[in-house]
Amino acid sequence: MGPVGVAEGDLLDIAIEVAVEAAELARTAREAAIHDVDTKTSETDVVTAADVAVERLVRERLAERRPGEPVLGEEEAGGSGAPGGGVCWVVDPIDGTVNYLYGLPWYAVSLAAQVDGESVAAAVVEPASGRRWTATRGGGAFLDGRRLRVSSATRLELSLISTGFAYRAERRSRQAAAMASLLGRVRDIRRPGAASLDLCAVAAGWVDGYFEHGLHRWDWAGGALIAAEAGAVVRLPESEAGLTFVTTPGIAEELWAALGETGYRDI
Ligand code: IPD
Repeated sequence: MGPVGVAEGDLLDIAIEVAVEAAELARTAREAAIHDVDTKTSETDVVTAADVAVERLVRERLAERRPGEPVLGEEEAGGSGAPGGGVCWVVDPIDGTVNYLYGLPWYAVSLAAQVDGESVAAAVVEPASGRRWTATRGGGAFLDGRRLRVSSATRLELSLISTGFAYRAERRSRQAAAMASLLGRVRDIRRPGAASLDLCAVAAGWVDGYFEHGLHRWDWAGGALIAAEAGAVVRLPESEAGLTFVTTPGIAEELWAALGETGYRDI
């Protein structure tokens, strides 16, 4: 039992079960959509339809397994928290929708259980590969059952950093300008395209740090717990426009300072 009397392990079992079923729907919906794109709908409609269908499935399954608990999701509004230490579920039905649209495999279903706004159990499932990233608060983070640990990087100039760009053109231009200054101070930059998995990549040591302005709660709720449980420094946005900053501890202060100097923190 966690400090608020929540059995994180039970929540994790449900998160995995539901996210795995949802991932299978996302994968098969994409296969069907390949035909639809050519025939009757626009590409964006196809992605939207898949997003909505996957979120609906998640909501149905959670209503069966955890009746009455609020669900915050990307496609339908819903609860943004539960009173008095209750559980709130946070779902991104397809994180990495642009990758999904193009057939790039870096996309995921992200499902987290939160208590008082803090994630206590999380499952991020990749439909294309079937990989399952999981964590419970205080119980560690795992990829397909293998314990995760962040990288041991200590020097920013030797660090691989990932980020993402906002959908709004004006904002992404400012982000790109700041990134241009950062590029000369790190080993390299990646823009993989799915925030939940970018956070998991920090947990696995596949990148040394990740940051992005403007994520929504459903983008980070799963991956941030997985990164934290793998030993990452995690700073979460205080508002929807805020900064998500997640790195291995050895470069945290240097990267934080660099983001200040390049102007990225004030975007
Ligand atoms: C997006 C992805 C992307 C990030 C965007 C998110 P979505 O989520 O995570 O990598 O850069 O900020 O909105 O729209 O594909 O669920």
